[in-house]
Amino acid sequence: MSVLVTGGAGYIGSHMVLALLDAGQDVCVIDNLTTGYRWAVPEQVSFIEADVGDKGAVRQVIERHDVDAMVHFAGSIVVPESVSDPLGYYHNNTVNSRSLIECCVETGVKNMIFSSTAAVYGTPAVSPVTEETPTDPISPYGASKLMTEWMLRDTAFAHDFNYVALRYFNVAGADPEGRSGQSNPAATHLLKALMRTALGISDHMKIFGRDYETRDGTCIRDYIHVSDLIGAHLAALSYLRDGGESGVFNCGYGHGCTVLEAIAAVERVLDQKINVVDADRRAGDPPELVSVADKARSVLGWTPKHDDLDVIVQTAYDWEKILNARVDAAE
Ligand code: UFG
Repeated sequence: MSVLVTGGAGYIGSHMVLALLDAGQDVCVIDNLTTGYRWAVPEQVSFIEADVGDKGAVRQVIERHDVDAMVHFAGSIVVPESVSDPLGYYHNNTVNSRSLIECCVETGVKNMIFSSTAAVYGTPAVSPVTEETPTDPISPYGASKLMTEWMLRDTAFAHDFNYVALRYFNVAGADPEGRSGQSNPAATHLLKALMRTALGISDHMKIFGRDYETRDGTCIRDYIHVSDLIGAHLAALSYLRDGGESGVFNCGYGHGCTVLEAIAAVERVLDQKINVVDADRRAGDPPELVSVADKARSVLGWTPKHDDLDVIVQTAYDWEKILNARVDAAE
């Protein structure tokens, strides 16, 4: 019995692989390495470099490793890119997910955990949002993930197959043991931009809009430490293996911070000033996106352990330093 992790060489997937190994589980990885790194997957893990849309490769892995559960991270995740390349996003996120779900049905894999996103809510009229808040994605990225949720729902209805879709809020931070983190230099997320500025890799970071109707004029997000997000996946895996019902779950802490509060946390934790520049609003940014995540706690039994912005900042910084040292050594 083993777990197949798609996208296991990426930021979140690599943390899942480490957590499964730590828990003594058998794990195999399929990743096409477009945004992941081979070195992010420990040597002892079976690694298959292939596209998740390659049904032959996926079937072979499932059969060879006696896979009973799939954790599906692989996909494209850049919201503005999805606006300029919608068909690419519907292919990578929706069409390829359809192919994976079909492989599960055909080979008898009964459990899937799917990386969904708070982007399915679009710009919600209320905050915080529960799983019952109407979905109304405003980007092809959000729509491509929501369509996969629908395919999972309908497949679970028709077949002997169950799923948990986790709607991630703003994932940040890195493995507290320094084994993995956000390694993609092209990542544009707030914490990544702050870390790059703190280390002098970037000269400054931009604040995208100070004129929102929030407590200090900047956008509010629910930042969740990647290790806690992985804790939710482990809880979902046990839940599904124990026969739990399919469902959709928010993954956040249930409270948010503004961009300025995040900057203040970085300055406090690192004891250094961050060079910031005001910029225009970024298209498609909702003013506030905060979860109600009670359902994951009560149904999955999820218990977050790192609900602390300072821990997110410190672990993100430690990882960025490790990455930076590797780049320096390679040059
Ligand atoms: N921000 C800045 N400067 C930066 C980067 C970000 O001010 O250099 C601001 C953004 O404008 C936003 C906040 O910081 O207000 C967070 O931005 P991120 O880019 O870190 O994250 P998003 O909230 O845009 O995106 C996240 C996930 C997506 C998901 C989306 C749902 O990364 O996958 O939430 O809205 F789709």
